[in-house]
Amino acid sequence: MSKQRVLTGYRPTGKLHLGHWFGNLQNMLKMQHEYDAYYFIADYHALTSDWADPSGIAGSTEDMVLDWCAAGLDPNFCTIYRQSDIPQVAELMLFFSMVLPMPWLERTPSYKEQRAQITTKDLGNVGFFLYPALQAADIAIVLADAVPVGEDQLPHLELTREIVRRFNNTYGDYLREPKAIIATEGARVPGTDGRKMSKSYGNAIFISDPEDEIRKKVMSFMTDPARKLKTDPGDPDICPLHSVHKLIAPAEEIAEWDACCRSAECGCVAHKRKLADDLVAYLAPFRERRAELALIPGFAAEVLAGGAAKAKPITSGVVATCRELMGLDACTELSAGIKRSGSATPDDSHPSFLDSAE
Ligand code: ADP
Ligand code: TRP
Repeated sequence: MSKQRVLTGYRPTGKLHLGHWFGNLQNMLKMQHEYDAYYFIADYHALTSDWADPSGIAGSTEDMVLDWCAAGLDPNFCTIYRQSDIPQVAELMLFFSMVLPMPWLERTPSYKEQRAQITTKDLGNVGFFLYPALQAADIAIVLADAVPVGEDQLPHLELTREIVRRFNNTYGDYLREPKAIIATEGARVPGTDGRKMSKSYGNAIFISDPEDEIRKKVMSFMTDPARKLKTDPGDPDICPLHSVHKLIAPAEEIAEWDACCRSAECGCVAHKRKLADDLVAYLAPFRERRAELALIPGFAAEVLAGGAAKAKPITSGVVATCRELMGLDACTELSAGIKRSGSATPDDSHPSFLDSAE
């Protein structure tokens, strides 16, 4: 039996942080061995918000390939590509925009939230409004069965299923409705300020952060806000520091910190020092591997070229079928006619329709 297909993407808008690592990347690592896995860098999506200053996108794309591969993604087991190397995804998004009612986009929670919360960028552009339609096209273009994501992406997955259903009802049952796969732990990793860890909030610990930076950030981590004095008993269930520690330390050790905090025997500063030590040790092998990969000339470019070559036959096939289903096959006939008449193929010399009309 052939493997099920999974796909997920990250926007190249900064470096990888612990939210990605526990919320998603751990799942991606496992899945590359169990599924036919497609992992892509969503540079078109980065452009929807960074269009006024896209100078960081190319560098972050390369960083992401290095981070992913240092974390253990292996191009021999999964297909790693860059979204803009498959421009047909923009055509599929255009097709989706035909069946997609505007209110479906207007009510997307991420759209409303980000427009309200991110004030440093102009998100009033149409590209940003279409963000979820592009995400639906990313998923449908490889006919993915499942999408590993953090909790925050669930509305986008729901919208993708709705678009696919509407497309299939209108043009024939062809595209697949994907299901979301959420990490059991780490579905929403908190940042140093207690909100969801995100590069947009300035509260992230990046997995390539140097040791002193990790220590500095951990020492500023928010703890149980009701615990004012060391002698006050704390509540680990609402402590963001504790939530992060749980992700890396063994269960017995966490149980000890839990009891110690509830009885006020140990304070938050001691707990922060311990988390800092544990985190530095936990991330050390990753940092070494990343430094090695960074020394290999052209490493990222080669990974992306190989991935695009593997993805293209599938994505081109899916878009060609959608084109036909939507009634555009008269054009396919015409280009087939150009080939049949013995003139050069469109790829060779780009003949115009007028050249071959008679
Ligand atoms: P950011 O919010 O930092 O811009 P992205 O939007 O690039 O992160 O997220 C890439 C993937 O990582 C998505 O699947 C997202 O759900 C997941 N993810 C990001 N931050 C977290 C977090 N703090 N906890 C859990 N998952 C996360
Ligand atoms: N919206 C996702 C995020 O912010 C990134 C993304 C773009 C994505 N296209 C996707 C994730 C397709 C999963 C599938 O993290």
